[in-house]
Amino acid sequence: MAQPKVVLGVSGGIAAYKACELLRRLTESGHDVRVVPTESALHFVGAATWSALSGHPVSTEVWESVHEVPHVRIGQAADLVVVAPATADMLAKAAHGLADDLLTNTLLTARCPVVFAPAMHTEMWEHPATQENVATLRRRGAVVIEPAVGRLTGVDTGKGRLPEAAEIFEVCRNILNRHGRTAGAAAPDLVGRHVVVSAGGTREPLDPVRYLGNRSSGKQGYALARVAAARGARVTLVEANTGIPDPAGVDVVHVGTAVQLREAVLKAAADADAVVMAAAVADFRPAVYAQGKIKKTDDGGAPTIELVRNPDILAEISADRALPGQVVVGFAAETDDVLAHGREKLRRKGCDLLVVNEVGERKTFGSEENEAVVLAADGADTPVPYGPKEVLAEIVWDLVAPRLRSVPANDSEKSVTRPDFTAPAE
Ligand SMILES: Cc1cc2nc3c(=O)[nH]c(=O)nc-3n(C[C@H](O)[C@H](O)[C@H](O)COP(=O)(O)O)c2cc1C
Repeated sequence: MAQPKVVLGVSGGIAAYKACELLRRLTESGHDVRVVPTESALHFVGAATWSALSGHPVSTEVWESVHEVPHVRIGQAADLVVVAPATADMLAKAAHGLADDLLTNTLLTARCPVVFAPAMHTEMWEHPATQENVATLRRRGAVVIEPAVGRLTGVDTGKGRLPEAAEIFEVCRNILNRHGRTAGAAAPDLVGRHVVVSAGGTREPLDPVRYLGNRSSGKQGYALARVAAARGARVTLVEANTGIPDPAGVDVVHVGTAVQLREAVLKAAADADAVVMAAAVADFRPAVYAQGKIKKTDDGGAPTIELVRNPDILAEISADRALPGQVVVGFAAETDDVLAHGREKLRRKGCDLLVVNEVGERKTFGSEENEAVVLAADGADTPVPYGPKEVLAEIVWDLVAPRLRSVPANDSEKSVTRPDFTAPAE
Protein backbone atom coordinates (compact mmCIF):
# COMPACT_ATOMS: atom_id res chain seq x y z
CA MET A 1 0.00 0.00 0.00
CA ALA A 2 1.29 3.52 -0.82
CA GLN A 3 2.41 5.55 2.16
CA PRO A 4 -0.46 7.58 3.65
CA LYS A 5 -0.05 11.23 2.72
CA VAL A 6 -0.31 13.66 5.61
CA VAL A 7 -0.25 17.45 5.37
CA LEU A 8 1.14 19.01 8.53
CA GLY A 9 -0.06 22.61 8.67
CA VAL A 10 1.85 24.77 11.12
CA SER A 11 0.55 28.19 12.09
CA GLY A 12 2.30 30.96 13.97
CA GLY A 13 2.25 30.04 17.63
CA ILE A 14 5.04 29.61 20.10
CA ALA A 15 4.30 25.85 20.16
CA ALA A 16 5.40 25.49 16.51
CA TYR A 17 8.61 23.83 17.71
CA LYS A 18 6.53 20.95 19.13
CA ALA A 19 5.29 20.21 15.62
CA CYS A 20 8.87 19.05 14.82
CA GLU A 21 8.33 16.15 17.20
CA LEU A 22 4.94 15.40 15.62
CA LEU A 23 6.57 15.48 12.19
CA ARG A 24 9.28 13.08 13.36
CA ARG A 25 6.70 10.65 14.76
CA LEU A 26 4.66 10.77 11.55
CA THR A 27 7.61 10.24 9.20
CA GLU A 28 9.24 7.53 11.34
CA SER A 29 5.99 5.58 11.43
CA GLY A 30 5.78 5.48 7.64
CA HIS A 31 3.75 8.53 6.62
CA ASP A 32 4.64 10.78 3.71
CA VAL A 33 4.41 14.23 5.30
CA ARG A 34 4.21 17.54 3.50
CA VAL A 35 4.68 20.50 5.84
CA VAL A 36 2.75 23.66 4.99
CA PRO A 37 3.63 26.44 7.43
CA THR A 38 2.20 29.93 7.49
CA GLU A 39 4.45 33.02 7.15
CA SER A 40 4.03 33.60 10.90
CA ALA A 41 5.06 30.02 11.70
CA LEU A 42 8.41 30.63 10.00
CA HIS A 43 9.21 33.23 12.69
CA PHE A 44 9.27 30.34 15.15
CA VAL A 45 10.75 27.47 13.11
CA GLY A 46 12.45 28.04 9.74
CA ALA A 47 11.63 26.47 6.39
CA ALA A 48 14.98 24.64 6.36
CA THR A 49 13.97 22.60 9.41
CA TRP A 50 10.60 21.61 7.95
CA SER A 51 12.11 20.77 4.59
CA ALA A 52 14.98 18.71 6.01
CA LEU A 53 12.76 16.79 8.43
CA SER A 54 10.00 16.07 5.89
CA GLY A 55 12.14 15.53 2.80
CA HIS A 56 9.85 17.81 0.79
CA PRO A 57 10.06 21.41 -0.40
CA VAL A 58 8.34 23.90 1.85
CA SER A 59 6.41 26.97 0.85
CA THR A 60 3.94 29.25 2.55
CA GLU A 61 2.33 30.75 -0.51
CA VAL A 62 0.52 29.79 -3.67
CA TRP A 63 2.91 31.59 -6.06
CA GLU A 64 5.74 29.05 -5.98
CA SER A 65 5.89 26.10 -8.44
CA VAL A 66 2.68 27.41 -9.95
CA HIS A 67 2.84 24.85 -12.78
CA GLU A 68 2.17 22.17 -10.17
CA VAL A 69 -0.90 24.06 -8.93
CA PRO A 70 0.10 23.39 -5.30
CA HIS A 71 -2.80 25.33 -3.83
CA VAL A 72 -5.11 22.57 -5.12
CA ARG A 73 -2.95 19.46 -5.48
CA ILE A 74 -1.56 19.26 -1.94
CA GLY A 75 -5.00 19.21 -0.37
CA GLN A 76 -6.49 16.91 -3.00
CA ALA A 77 -3.75 14.30 -2.54
CA ALA A 78 -3.87 14.24 1.27
CA ASP A 79 -5.21 11.35 3.35
CA LEU A 80 -5.18 13.58 6.42
CA VAL A 81 -4.51 17.24 7.19
CA VAL A 82 -3.42 18.10 10.70
CA VAL A 83 -2.82 21.70 11.78
CA ALA A 84 -0.62 21.87 14.87
CA PRO A 85 -0.43 24.34 16.41
CA ALA A 86 -3.61 25.96 15.11
CA THR A 87 -3.64 29.66 16.03
CA ALA A 88 -6.79 31.60 16.81
CA ASP A 89 -6.24 33.29 13.47
CA MET A 90 -6.01 29.97 11.63
CA LEU A 91 -9.19 28.63 13.26
CA ALA A 92 -10.99 31.83 12.22
CA LYS A 93 -9.74 31.62 8.64
CA ALA A 94 -10.63 27.94 8.38
CA ALA A 95 -14.09 28.51 9.84
CA HIS A 96 -14.77 31.31 7.37
CA GLY A 97 -13.19 29.71 4.32
CA LEU A 98 -10.50 32.33 3.76
CA ALA A 99 -7.74 31.31 1.37
CA ASP A 100 -4.90 33.81 1.43
CA ASP A 101 -1.93 31.44 1.70
CA LEU A 102 -0.99 27.85 0.85
CA LEU A 103 -2.28 26.34 4.10
CA THR A 104 -5.70 27.96 3.98
CA ASN A 105 -6.04 26.97 0.29
CA THR A 106 -5.08 23.42 1.21
CA LEU A 107 -7.74 23.33 3.92
CA LEU A 108 -10.38 24.27 1.35
CA THR A 109 -9.31 21.70 -1.23
CA ALA A 110 -8.81 18.77 1.17
CA ARG A 111 -11.64 16.21 1.19
CA CYS A 112 -9.92 13.98 3.76
CA PRO A 113 -10.27 14.15 7.57
CA VAL A 114 -8.93 17.38 9.07
CA VAL A 115 -7.55 17.71 12.61
CA PHE A 116 -6.85 21.00 14.38
CA ALA A 117 -4.71 21.11 17.51
CA PRO A 118 -5.26 24.66 18.83
CA ALA A 119 -2.74 26.42 21.06
CA MET A 120 -3.08 29.93 22.38
CA HIS A 121 -3.51 31.98 25.53
CA THR A 122 -6.54 31.10 27.63
CA GLU A 123 -8.23 34.43 26.87
CA MET A 124 -7.92 33.84 23.11
CA TRP A 125 -9.22 30.27 23.46
CA GLU A 126 -12.18 31.28 25.63
CA HIS A 127 -13.16 34.26 23.48
CA PRO A 128 -16.64 33.71 21.99
CA ALA A 129 -15.25 34.34 18.49
CA THR A 130 -12.78 31.46 18.84
CA GLN A 131 -15.35 29.21 20.48
CA GLU A 132 -17.82 29.86 17.66
CA ASN A 133 -15.14 29.13 15.07
CA VAL A 134 -14.30 25.85 16.83
CA ALA A 135 -17.99 24.91 16.95
CA THR A 136 -18.33 25.69 13.24
CA LEU A 137 -15.32 23.53 12.36
CA ARG A 138 -16.59 20.64 14.49
CA ARG A 139 -20.06 20.91 12.98
CA ARG A 140 -18.48 20.49 9.56
CA GLY A 141 -16.73 17.32 10.69
CA ALA A 142 -13.26 18.56 11.56
CA VAL A 143 -11.67 17.12 14.69
CA VAL A 144 -10.63 19.94 17.02
CA ILE A 145 -8.53 18.56 19.88
CA GLU A 146 -9.12 20.29 23.22
CA PRO A 147 -6.04 22.25 24.26
CA ALA A 148 -4.25 21.06 27.38
CA VAL A 149 -4.02 22.98 30.65
CA GLY A 150 -0.56 24.08 31.74
CA ARG A 151 2.28 26.51 31.19
CA LEU A 152 1.69 28.95 28.33
CA THR A 153 4.02 31.51 26.80
CA GLY A 154 5.88 33.53 29.44
CA VAL A 155 4.74 33.17 33.02
CA ASP A 156 1.08 32.42 32.28
CA THR A 157 -0.61 29.12 32.90
CA GLY A 158 -4.10 27.93 31.97
CA LYS A 159 -6.00 26.19 29.20
CA GLY A 160 -4.51 26.70 25.77
CA ARG A 161 -1.38 24.59 25.73
CA LEU A 162 -0.71 22.39 22.70
CA PRO A 163 -1.33 18.74 23.65
CA GLU A 164 1.78 16.55 23.59
CA ALA A 165 2.97 15.49 20.13
CA ALA A 166 2.37 11.84 21.12
CA GLU A 167 -1.30 12.56 21.76
CA ILE A 168 -1.82 14.44 18.49
CA PHE A 169 -0.02 11.61 16.71
CA GLU A 170 -2.38 9.04 18.26
CA VAL A 171 -5.43 11.00 17.13
CA CYS A 172 -4.03 11.15 13.58
CA ARG A 173 -3.12 7.46 13.56
CA ASN A 174 -6.55 6.43 14.86
CA ILE A 175 -8.30 8.43 12.14
CA LEU A 176 -6.06 7.06 9.39
CA ASN A 177 -6.61 3.50 10.69
CA ARG A 178 -10.35 3.94 10.63
CA HIS A 179 -10.14 5.15 7.04
CA GLY A 180 -8.03 2.13 6.08
CA ARG A 181 -4.88 4.22 5.62
CA THR A 182 -2.60 2.52 8.11
CA ALA A 183 1.11 3.21 7.69
CA GLY A 184 3.81 0.56 7.82
CA ALA A 185 3.29 -3.11 8.45
CA ALA A 186 1.01 -2.77 11.47
CA ALA A 187 -2.55 -3.79 10.66
CA PRO A 188 -5.50 -2.39 12.61
CA ASP A 189 -6.09 -5.92 13.92
CA LEU A 190 -8.59 -4.91 16.61
CA VAL A 191 -11.17 -3.37 14.29
CA GLY A 192 -14.66 -4.51 15.28
CA ARG A 193 -13.51 -5.51 18.77
CA HIS A 194 -14.57 -4.02 22.07
CA VAL A 195 -11.88 -4.07 24.73
CA VAL A 196 -11.98 -2.96 28.35
CA VAL A 197 -8.91 -1.65 30.14
CA SER A 198 -8.68 -0.66 33.78
CA ALA A 199 -6.04 1.82 34.91
CA GLY A 200 -4.85 3.66 38.00
CA GLY A 201 -5.12 2.82 41.67
CA THR A 202 -8.25 2.55 43.80
CA ARG A 203 -8.67 4.65 46.95
CA GLU A 204 -10.53 3.22 49.92
CA PRO A 205 -11.92 6.02 52.08
CA LEU A 206 -11.20 5.93 55.79
CA ASP A 207 -12.79 9.22 56.77
CA PRO A 208 -13.71 12.39 54.82
CA VAL A 209 -10.04 13.40 54.46
CA ARG A 210 -8.09 10.13 54.34
CA TYR A 211 -7.95 7.01 52.21
CA LEU A 212 -5.90 3.85 51.75
CA GLY A 213 -4.35 4.00 48.31
CA ASN A 214 -1.45 2.79 46.22
CA ARG A 215 1.20 4.26 43.99
CA SER A 216 -0.15 3.21 40.59
CA SER A 217 -0.03 6.15 38.15
CA GLY A 218 -2.27 4.60 35.48
CA LYS A 219 0.25 5.28 32.70
CA GLN A 220 0.46 1.62 31.63
CA GLY A 221 -3.33 1.30 31.43
CA TYR A 222 -3.58 4.50 29.38
CA ALA A 223 -0.88 3.21 27.02
CA LEU A 224 -2.89 0.00 26.60
CA ALA A 225 -6.06 1.98 25.88
CA ARG A 226 -4.37 4.31 23.39
CA VAL A 227 -2.65 1.47 21.54
CA ALA A 228 -5.88 -0.57 21.35
CA ALA A 229 -7.72 2.44 19.93
CA ALA A 230 -4.92 2.97 17.42
CA ARG A 231 -5.29 -0.67 16.38
CA GLY A 232 -8.95 -0.07 15.65
CA ALA A 233 -10.70 -1.29 18.83
CA ARG A 234 -13.61 0.36 20.57
CA VAL A 235 -12.07 0.95 23.96
CA THR A 236 -13.67 1.44 27.37
CA LEU A 237 -11.12 2.69 29.89
CA VAL A 238 -12.14 2.38 33.53
CA GLU A 239 -9.80 4.71 35.39
CA ALA A 240 -9.28 5.24 39.07
CA ASN A 241 -7.64 8.39 40.43
CA THR A 242 -5.07 8.96 37.68
CA GLY A 243 -5.66 12.63 36.90
CA ILE A 244 -4.58 11.88 33.32
CA PRO A 245 -6.64 13.63 30.59
CA ASP A 246 -9.05 11.33 28.72
CA PRO A 247 -7.39 9.94 25.59
CA ALA A 248 -9.13 10.95 22.37
CA GLY A 249 -11.39 8.31 20.85
CA VAL A 250 -11.65 6.25 24.06
CA ASP A 251 -14.75 5.95 26.29
CA VAL A 252 -13.58 6.73 29.82
CA VAL A 253 -15.43 5.76 33.00
CA HIS A 254 -14.09 7.45 36.15
CA VAL A 255 -14.24 5.54 39.43
CA GLY A 256 -12.72 5.87 42.89
CA THR A 257 -12.91 2.67 44.90
CA ALA A 258 -12.44 -1.04 44.24
CA VAL A 259 -16.18 -1.66 44.52
CA GLN A 260 -16.92 1.07 41.96
CA LEU A 261 -14.20 -0.25 39.66
CA ARG A 262 -15.68 -3.76 39.84
CA GLU A 263 -19.12 -2.45 38.93
CA ALA A 264 -17.82 -0.43 35.96
CA VAL A 265 -15.61 -3.24 34.65
CA LEU A 266 -18.37 -5.87 34.89
CA LYS A 267 -20.78 -3.56 33.08
CA ALA A 268 -18.34 -2.78 30.26
CA ALA A 269 -17.16 -6.41 30.03
CA ALA A 270 -20.67 -7.63 29.18
CA ASP A 271 -19.96 -7.33 25.43
CA ALA A 272 -16.16 -7.12 25.48
CA ASP A 273 -13.82 -9.34 23.49
CA ALA A 274 -10.99 -8.71 25.94
CA VAL A 275 -10.55 -7.26 29.42
CA VAL A 276 -7.15 -6.03 30.55
CA MET A 277 -6.94 -5.32 34.26
CA ALA A 278 -3.97 -2.96 34.59
CA ALA A 279 -5.40 -1.06 37.57
CA ALA A 280 -3.97 -1.63 41.03
CA VAL A 281 -7.05 -2.61 43.00
CA ALA A 282 -6.91 -2.49 46.79
CA ASP A 283 -7.14 -5.96 48.36
CA PHE A 284 -8.62 -4.49 51.56
CA ARG A 285 -10.75 -1.54 52.58
CA PRO A 286 -11.54 -0.09 56.00
CA ALA A 287 -14.40 -2.02 57.59
CA VAL A 288 -15.93 1.23 58.80
CA TYR A 289 -16.00 4.63 57.12
CA ALA A 290 -15.82 7.31 59.81
CA GLN A 291 -18.32 10.09 59.04
CA GLY A 292 -16.11 12.66 60.77
CA LYS A 293 -12.31 13.09 60.64
CA ILE A 294 -10.61 10.62 62.97
CA LYS A 295 -8.99 12.78 65.68
CA LYS A 296 -5.81 12.35 67.70
CA THR A 297 -6.47 11.57 71.34
CA ASP A 298 -4.67 13.13 74.34
CA ASP A 299 -3.47 9.78 75.64
CA GLY A 300 -0.94 9.51 72.79
CA GLY A 301 -2.62 6.38 71.41
CA ALA A 302 -3.44 5.55 67.81
CA PRO A 303 -6.62 3.99 66.43
CA THR A 304 -6.72 0.45 65.17
CA ILE A 305 -8.19 0.22 61.70
CA GLU A 306 -10.03 -2.94 60.88
CA LEU A 307 -9.90 -3.99 57.25
CA VAL A 308 -12.17 -6.19 55.18
CA ARG A 309 -11.43 -7.96 51.89
CA ASN A 310 -12.36 -6.30 48.62
CA PRO A 311 -13.79 -8.42 45.79
CA ASP A 312 -11.16 -10.11 43.61
CA ILE A 313 -12.26 -8.68 40.26
CA LEU A 314 -9.65 -10.44 38.13
CA ALA A 315 -10.53 -13.86 39.54
CA GLU A 316 -14.23 -13.11 39.19
CA ILE A 317 -14.17 -12.06 35.53
CA SER A 318 -11.78 -14.92 34.69
CA ALA A 319 -14.05 -17.52 36.29
CA ASP A 320 -17.30 -16.08 35.02
CA ARG A 321 -16.62 -14.80 31.50
CA ALA A 322 -19.34 -12.59 30.12
CA LEU A 323 -18.85 -14.06 26.63
CA PRO A 324 -17.38 -17.41 25.64
CA GLY A 325 -13.80 -16.93 24.52
CA GLN A 326 -13.42 -13.53 26.18
CA VAL A 327 -9.69 -12.95 26.78
CA VAL A 328 -8.74 -11.79 30.27
CA VAL A 329 -5.37 -10.25 31.08
CA GLY A 330 -4.11 -9.46 34.58
CA PHE A 331 -1.16 -7.51 35.93
CA ALA A 332 1.01 -8.40 38.90
CA ALA A 333 3.59 -6.12 40.50
CA GLU A 334 5.97 -8.16 42.62
CA THR A 335 9.02 -7.28 44.68
CA ASP A 336 10.76 -10.67 44.89
CA ASP A 337 10.79 -14.06 43.20
CA VAL A 338 8.79 -12.37 40.49
CA LEU A 339 8.29 -15.24 38.04
CA ALA A 340 7.35 -17.84 40.63
CA HIS A 341 4.81 -15.51 42.22
CA GLY A 342 3.52 -14.59 38.77
CA ARG A 343 2.98 -18.20 37.70
CA GLU A 344 1.21 -18.93 40.94
CA LYS A 345 -1.02 -15.85 40.54
CA LEU A 346 -1.84 -16.73 36.92
CA ARG A 347 -3.00 -20.20 38.04
CA ARG A 348 -4.93 -18.83 41.03
CA LYS A 349 -6.72 -16.08 39.09
CA GLY A 350 -7.50 -18.18 36.02
CA CYS A 351 -6.76 -15.44 33.48
CA ASP A 352 -5.27 -16.04 30.01
CA LEU A 353 -2.26 -13.75 30.30
CA LEU A 354 -0.53 -12.19 33.27
CA VAL A 355 1.89 -9.29 32.88
CA VAL A 356 4.38 -9.58 35.70
CA ASN A 357 6.63 -6.70 36.54
CA GLU A 358 9.08 -6.08 39.28
CA VAL A 359 8.53 -3.01 41.42
CA GLY A 360 11.85 -1.16 41.30
CA GLU A 361 13.67 2.16 41.16
CA ARG A 362 13.10 3.19 37.56
CA LYS A 363 10.18 1.00 36.60
CA THR A 364 6.48 0.42 37.15
CA PHE A 365 4.92 3.13 39.37
CA GLY A 366 4.82 6.58 37.79
CA SER A 367 7.57 5.83 35.29
CA GLU A 368 7.26 6.18 31.51
CA GLU A 369 9.07 2.86 31.17
CA ASN A 370 8.42 -0.68 32.21
CA GLU A 371 10.05 -4.08 32.05
CA ALA A 372 7.96 -7.22 32.31
CA VAL A 373 7.38 -10.83 31.44
CA VAL A 374 4.01 -11.77 29.97
CA LEU A 375 3.05 -15.23 31.20
CA ALA A 376 0.45 -17.19 29.26
CA ALA A 377 -1.86 -19.87 30.67
CA ASP A 378 -0.55 -22.24 27.97
CA GLY A 379 2.94 -21.97 29.50
CA ALA A 380 4.59 -19.49 27.09
CA ASP A 381 6.71 -16.64 28.56
CA THR A 382 7.28 -13.40 26.62
CA PRO A 383 9.99 -11.25 28.19
CA VAL A 384 9.63 -7.54 27.41
CA PRO A 385 12.89 -5.61 27.94
CA TYR A 386 13.04 -2.23 29.69
CA GLY A 387 11.39 0.36 27.44
CA PRO A 388 8.39 2.67 26.92
CA LYS A 389 5.03 1.52 28.31
CA GLU A 390 3.62 1.83 24.76
CA VAL A 391 5.94 -0.97 23.64
CA LEU A 392 4.70 -3.27 26.40
CA ALA A 393 1.14 -2.29 25.43
CA GLU A 394 1.76 -3.26 21.78
CA ILE A 395 3.15 -6.64 22.91
CA VAL A 396 0.15 -7.29 25.17
CA TRP A 397 -2.23 -6.65 22.25
CA ASP A 398 0.01 -8.76 19.96
CA LEU A 399 -0.56 -11.62 22.41
CA VAL A 400 -4.28 -10.92 22.91
CA ALA A 401 -5.15 -10.61 19.18
CA PRO A 402 -4.55 -14.27 18.19
CA ARG A 403 -6.43 -15.47 21.30
CA LEU A 404 -9.61 -13.54 20.46
CA ARG A 405 -12.65 -15.59 19.54
CA SER A 406 -13.30 -15.69 15.82
CA VAL A 407 -16.63 -13.84 15.99
CA PRO A 408 -16.16 -10.28 17.26
CA ALA A 409 -18.54 -9.29 20.04
CA ASN A 410 -20.18 -6.80 17.69
CA ASP A 411 -21.37 -9.61 15.43
CA SER A 412 -22.81 -11.65 18.28
CA GLU A 413 -26.30 -11.57 19.69
CA LYS A 414 -24.98 -9.21 22.36
CA SER A 415 -23.86 -6.73 19.74
CA VAL A 416 -23.70 -3.02 20.28
CA THR A 417 -23.35 -0.33 17.65
CA ARG A 418 -19.74 0.62 17.28
CA PRO A 419 -19.44 4.40 17.18
CA ASP A 420 -17.25 5.94 14.54
CA PHE A 421 -14.27 8.01 15.63
CA THR A 422 -15.51 10.41 18.25
CA ALA A 423 -14.00 13.83 18.44
CA PRO A 424 -12.95 14.99 21.92
CA ALA A 425 -15.86 16.58 23.72
CA GLU A 426 -16.41 20.27 23.09
C1 LIG B 1 5.78 35.36 20.46
C2 LIG B 1 4.42 35.14 19.88
C3 LIG B 1 3.72 34.02 20.22
C4 LIG B 1 2.44 33.80 19.72
N1 LIG B 1 1.78 32.67 20.09
C5 LIG B 1 0.54 32.47 19.61
C6 LIG B 1 -0.17 31.30 19.99
O1 LIG B 1 0.32 30.45 20.72
N2 LIG B 1 -1.43 31.14 19.52
C7 LIG B 1 -2.03 32.07 18.69
O2 LIG B 1 -3.19 31.85 18.33
N3 LIG B 1 -1.37 33.15 18.32
C8 LIG B 1 -0.11 33.39 18.75
N4 LIG B 1 0.57 34.51 18.35
C9 LIG B 1 -0.08 35.43 17.44
C10 LIG B 1 -0.01 34.91 15.99
O3 LIG B 1 1.34 34.72 15.59
C11 LIG B 1 -0.71 35.89 15.06
O4 LIG B 1 -2.11 35.88 15.34
C12 LIG B 1 -0.49 35.57 13.60
O5 LIG B 1 -1.19 36.49 12.81
C13 LIG B 1 -0.95 34.16 13.25
O6 LIG B 1 -0.77 33.94 11.89
P1 LIG B 1 -1.11 32.54 11.21
O7 LIG B 1 -2.39 32.07 11.79
O8 LIG B 1 -1.18 32.81 9.77
O9 LIG B 1 0.02 31.61 11.50
C14 LIG B 1 1.85 34.73 18.84
C15 LIG B 1 2.59 35.84 18.47
C16 LIG B 1 3.85 36.06 18.98
C17 LIG B 1 4.61 37.28 18.54
